[in-house]
Amino acid sequence: MILPIVAYGDSILRKTADEISADSVELQQLIDDMFETMEASRGVGLAAPQINKAIRLFIIDSSRMYDDDDADKADATREVFINAKILEEDGKSWTYEEGCLSIPGIREDVARKPQIKIEYLDRKFKKHTKSFSGLTARVIQHEYDHIEGKLFIDHISPLRRSLLKRKLDNITKGITNADYKMRFPKR
Ligand code: CO
Repeated sequence: MILPIVAYGDSILRKTADEISADSVELQQLIDDMFETMEASRGVGLAAPQINKAIRLFIIDSSRMYDDDDADKADATREVFINAKILEEDGKSWTYEEGCLSIPGIREDVARKPQIKIEYLDRKFKKHTKSFSGLTARVIQHEYDHIEGKLFIDHISPLRRSLLKRKLDNITKGITNADYKMRFPKR
């Protein structure tokens, strides 16, 4: 089932999400629904708060971000992250233009470190500790921010953010040309 994506301005996007204590049929269904929702909106990642659940769950599929001849194409992955914890971030920060399904129509340069080490449970609740780099690390960092109540626009300068204020207010009011289903806090 495709779920509506929570728009910027909803307080759930600002909450620190709760740990998930146990597997359940509902959780597995939710993960399937999140993949369906992410694909329908052509996203590369989706976090549970974006579908109105304040739990520490996000999914990514970074394969779309790489070209077939990219040397680092092997870094691309499709994965579920439950109760993730970033243990380390390393390297010299690099800038890339990010967007977010909850903030349609806005893209901004964000600086992040290129390497991460992260501990998480997969959808079978098996524990992993893995390292990721480049674009895949970036998608994970962006989605991880969501379960911490942060958004990519928190990383840009106050001046840039003030220039976006009207656009952001419009998204909150439901004035957007997103071509996927959303739910708006003020409508
Ligand atoms: Co996002």
